[in-house]
Amino acid sequence: MVTKFIAIGLLGSALVALSDAAATKASQKAATTASPTVGGLLAVSSPAWLASITPIAGLPSGVPSGTVPSGALATSIPGFNLSAYPAGWKTPPTNSAEVAAVISALDWTKVPAAPTRKGKSNGDLVTTGYNENTDPFCWWSDTNCVKPKVDYLPEDIYHCPRPGDWGLTYDDGPFNPSDFSKLGDSPWAEPNLYNFLAAHDQKATLFYIGSNVVGFPAAAKRAIEDGLTICVHTWSHPQMTTMTNDQVVAELYWTLRAIKESTGVTPRCWRPPYGDVDDRVRAIAWQMGMRTVVWDEDTNDWNMPGDGGGNLSPNVVDGYFQGWIDAYKNGTDNASGHIVLEHELNNATVSMAEKWLPTLQTTFNVVPVHECMNISNPYWEDNFSYATENGSTISADSSSTDMSSALSTAPPAALETDNESGALSASASAADSKPSTSGSSVMTISTLSAVMTAFLAAACLM
Ligand SMILES: *[C@@H]1O[C@H](CO)[C@@H](O)[C@H](O)[C@H]1NC(C)=O
Ligand SMILES: *[C@@H]1O[C@H](CO)[C@@H](O)[C@H](O)[C@H]1NC(C)=O
Ligand SMILES: *[C@@H]1O[C@H](CO)[C@@H](O)[C@H](O)[C@H]1NC(C)=O
Ligand SMILES: *[C@@H]1O[C@H](CO)[C@@H](O)[C@H](O)[C@H]1NC(C)=O
Ligand SMILES: *[C@@H]1O[C@H](CO)[C@@H](O)[C@H](O)[C@H]1NC(C)=O
Ligand SMILES: *[C@@H]1O[C@H](CO)[C@@H](O)[C@H](O)[C@H]1NC(C)=O
Ligand SMILES: *[C@@H]1O[C@H](CO)[C@@H](O)[C@H](O)[C@H]1NC(C)=O
Ligand SMILES: *[C@@H]1O[C@H](CO)[C@@H](O)[C@H](O)[C@H]1NC(C)=O
Repeated sequence: MVTKFIAIGLLGSALVALSDAAATKASQKAATTASPTVGGLLAVSSPAWLASITPIAGLPSGVPSGTVPSGALATSIPGFNLSAYPAGWKTPPTNSAEVAAVISALDWTKVPAAPTRKGKSNGDLVTTGYNENTDPFCWWSDTNCVKPKVDYLPEDIYHCPRPGDWGLTYDDGPFNPSDFSKLGDSPWAEPNLYNFLAAHDQKATLFYIGSNVVGFPAAAKRAIEDGLTICVHTWSHPQMTTMTNDQVVAELYWTLRAIKESTGVTPRCWRPPYGDVDDRVRAIAWQMGMRTVVWDEDTNDWNMPGDGGGNLSPNVVDGYFQGWIDAYKNGTDNASGHIVLEHELNNATVSMAEKWLPTLQTTFNVVPVHECMNISNPYWEDNFSYATENGSTISADSSSTDMSSALSTAPPAALETDNESGALSASASAADSKPSTSGSSVMTISTLSAVMTAFLAAACLM
């Protein structure tokens, strides 16, 4: 929720000047090129509707090698066509021609009819009446379920299978220097973290917010040039189970489109904000070509004091990192590797990330998620074939090494239960993406609520 603050920066940018007429024209082009599904499931073919999107110039045509770029990033890219996008930090309209084309391409008989969830005024989710024991829709927010009840859906990716692997992930980017313009440009905005990662020869998985991508496409371009992996984190960062089917499509579509235009690639992975996903949302994302990725360790870094942050003492976050390191070193953390939630959100999260990375590298095998899952092709574009866990580059055969087939090589033996006390239990509880449900039928993210309310109020003033 804290990320809603970013809306202030974006609303102050060119996004407010979007033209409906212009968007409609691009939409009509896309609509004519969206093709029917193959086997009823687009995830097993390709997101055909993005074929009409022309990426900006100068992008890598495959996994980059050699030295990475450096220097400042442009605040805008002339070739990036902002006027085609809906307003940032709002649920996009569902009646645009482009979104309508995607909606008509999906097989809705394959999407379970889970209710559209309700949020309370403070941002919590209402879980009253949901049967947590049978968990019919594998609702992560309520039960931490990662094993869908829908038979064609793969399990969520939630940890690295091999003990000692540390799946490095940063949510909510790209972090734009103008996000906190009232506070002055942040030196911690991109390319700060990307330069740090490059200097430490470290790749990571970035979960991008579409509204941030269109606000800072040069950062997305830098990420792909640096060999970082990009996944989708929705357009406006809502709790996705509160979205209608069409809204889910719109949130995912515009983010995919923004990433495609700014990087040339089409992600096969997405992470639900707050981890809020159920089989209805998973099924839509899957048909749109993406497998769901959550996490099993949460730094709660978003809640530290910082620009737009909260009030969690950085000492607590330090303690999480130290505890994970200690547990691995003393041999008790031996069941699996992990996927760890961090953020490129503000000065506090980025400085914390940079503080710990060198120590993590001396302890763990720190890798992007696709690598620890042994997934060579995190994108639909065959040209991007990454090194696998063994360190050898294998042929670009996306059908044999996509996000779903990797599942069969890495069964999560530790997770036999969907209970919150299962393998997904994290050292940290309530989080940006992990509302707590313990002992209550209603989620409690109260620390966030006041923060969010204040930010929304601020955003409304813009
Ligand atoms: C940008 O997109 C709009 C809307 O789709 C379109 O009308 C316009 O021609 C595009 N501009 C460029 C330079 O491609
Ligand atoms: C894939 O790589 C080949 C050879 O480098 C290149 O000709 C082609 O344009 C690339 N395709 C894309 C989509 O970048
Ligand atoms: C291993 O380290 C963890 C984290 O500090 C700690 O909780 C646990 O008690 C330690 N176990 C042993 C056997 O030292
Ligand atoms: C694995 O960790 C558990 C505790 O989490 C411990 O009881 C067990 O001895 C460890 N196994 C090895 C081989 O160290
Ligand atoms: C982040 O910036 C705020 C001012 O906006 C400052 O008070 C705080 O100390 C900074 N935190 C870090 C870790 O740089
Ligand atoms: C990774 O995938 C490649 C290609 O499918 C395979 O040869 C290799 O054995 C896999 N490695 C692991 C650790 O599963
Ligand atoms: C690939 O890595 C896995 C995990 O470390 C190892 O078990 C396997 O032997 C490796 N395979 C090759 C061909 O190196
Ligand atoms: C899961 O939770 C339910 C109640 O929340 C409990 O009855 C059940 O025993 C739990 N199962 C496991 C395996 O812990």
